[in-house]
Amino acid sequence: MVAPKTKLFGKDFISTQEWEKGELDTILAIADQLKTMWSYGYMPRILDRKTLFMLFYNASLRTRNSFEANMTELGGHAHFLDASTSYMPVLGNESVITPEGKSRERVKDAAEVLDRMGHALAIRIFGAPAGHVYGAANGLIREFANLCTIPIIDMDCDMYHPCQAMADLMTIREHIGPYNLKGKKFVMSWADAPSPWKPLAVAHSVTLLMTRYGLDVTLAYPKEFHVDPKIEQQAKENAEKNGSEFEIVHDMDEAFEGADIVYPKGWTSIDYLPPKTKEPNINKIKELLEKYRGTWTCDAEKMKKTNNAYYMHCLPADVKPGYEVTPEVIDSPRSIVIDEAENRLHAQRGILAATMGGRY
Ligand code: CP
Repeated sequence: MVAPKTKLFGKDFISTQEWEKGELDTILAIADQLKTMWSYGYMPRILDRKTLFMLFYNASLRTRNSFEANMTELGGHAHFLDASTSYMPVLGNESVITPEGKSRERVKDAAEVLDRMGHALAIRIFGAPAGHVYGAANGLIREFANLCTIPIIDMDCDMYHPCQAMADLMTIREHIGPYNLKGKKFVMSWADAPSPWKPLAVAHSVTLLMTRYGLDVTLAYPKEFHVDPKIEQQAKENAEKNGSEFEIVHDMDEAFEGADIVYPKGWTSIDYLPPKTKEPNINKIKELLEKYRGTWTCDAEKMKKTNNAYYMHCLPADVKPGYEVTPEVIDSPRSIVIDEAENRLHAQRGILAATMGGRY
């Protein structure tokens, strides 16, 4: 594959929608090339002495470790910053002390300081650290992007998880073949989960990306758990532009019918979070989760409706009958969740190489 000539050095990676398809192809091509080298035990030090700052407002296993491992392998270093060791940046003109006595710092100051010291800044923020206000976490990331000259990478916010989506696309291409995606039925489905706070980021980013790569995407959710209408509109336009299908259904059984790939995952209801409501209405969201408990679970019966589909999940999954997935499905031979997790390493290597190190 010959990657088209584009200018990616220094470009923010917040939503794949802000990247041309040829630019995403370039990242995938770099990721594939470096993965092949990695499999033979070779890795060029293309980020020699470069620093990636990683600002984590939320916990992580895959994201933190894949970025850290990448920076080590590419010859640079990843700095881990979290609330226990740093003054976490907040939006606004004033720094504040939280009721628990923790110091905060203005985004403006943190952004300008880190911009002088490093070569890229990756940020994870969703849920409580952003007050459960839908869009606020993405807003903070975009404020960093406005203030910094170095590239900003979204490591999962309340709207997008672009690194996960790229790893998922890489995984699908490996299992189905990069030229065999056209006409394959991909289902992004809501699933029952115990937590009322899971962001919509994966559902949004995966839907946006798969509709650009030829897959026929079915988005499934109970009406109360609808996704952001702006994302649905973008997905519809992506599908029209790329000659694929995009449909929305409100029944998990119907969605799974004839599917080649299923991706069932829980997310919260943005109808019961600010700015739609004055305060986050946790009781209402919990009530809705109970209403659907056990009916939007990915179990062996649901998988029988598919075309022997691959099972995908970004992890961590709620593995329990009545929740996101049963053990027999996630541990089955059709489950490709560990491949997805490994590809976080490889896909992000493509992103880091292109935005921090390359001449692309
Ligand atoms: N999928 C994912 O982002 O995993 P972590 O929360 O462990 O980073």
